[in-house]
Amino acid sequence: MRVVIADHPLITHKLTVLRDKRTPPPTFRLLVEELMTLLAYEATREVRVENIEIETPVTTTTGVRISQPVPLIVPILRAGLGMLEGMVKLVPTAEVGFLGMKRNEETLVPESYAERLPEKLHGRQCFVLDPMLATGGSLAAAIEFLFDRGADEVTAICVLGTPEGIAAVREQVGDRNVTLVLGALDDGLNENAYIVPGLGDAGDRLYGTAD
Ligand code: PRP
Ligand code: URA
Repeated sequence: MRVVIADHPLITHKLTVLRDKRTPPPTFRLLVEELMTLLAYEATREVRVENIEIETPVTTTTGVRISQPVPLIVPILRAGLGMLEGMVKLVPTAEVGFLGMKRNEETLVPESYAERLPEKLHGRQCFVLDPMLATGGSLAAAIEFLFDRGADEVTAICVLGTPEGIAAVREQVGDRNVTLVLGALDDGLNENAYIVPGLGDAGDRLYGTAD
């Protein structure tokens, strides 16, 4: 598994405001979307394209367009939804599938509660969006789901990650084609398996407290 930690002062600046507990939900949502657009630029470096001939007002030239089948973007509900708009702004022709996953806060095991994805993902580049990579359980389960449907390449984009989360996902995916793009690598997990320093509960900060 390839791990890319985005290193850019604008990302660090936006992350600092995101981490601040005084940042209210409307600003938080806006920042997650902006951060996603910056991370998407890094995450789509290897997006598959094919050559096309076009005519400029001056001459003919060769350009590129995104190959078929178009990439599939998969936000993990709830919190991944906050990243979707930032991603589709950059890749507007991509299609979107949904996975709903909730970490059981006692056992830390992710429970899947919703799924709306194509049955077959063969030959499809998939981009998974989830702001938080904590223990790695949710992301590992989501990636496994996509490979089970036939995906052969998955790029996961997370705003924050931990060394524990990276290790867990790495162990799960083995030598399959997975890239992980992170906005920052944090220190680790606290006793409640929250990311430290982190930003708290991403879903709650985006959308309010869910029961
Ligand atoms: C959060 C987050 C990840 C998961 C990370 O979602 O968005 O999906 O926790 O934790 P893990 O790496 O230990 O699995 P949560 O389960 O709280 O659901 P939510 O998005 O609905 O808030
Ligand atoms: N889920 C979150 O939203 N935040 C964390 O720090 C860990 C899991």
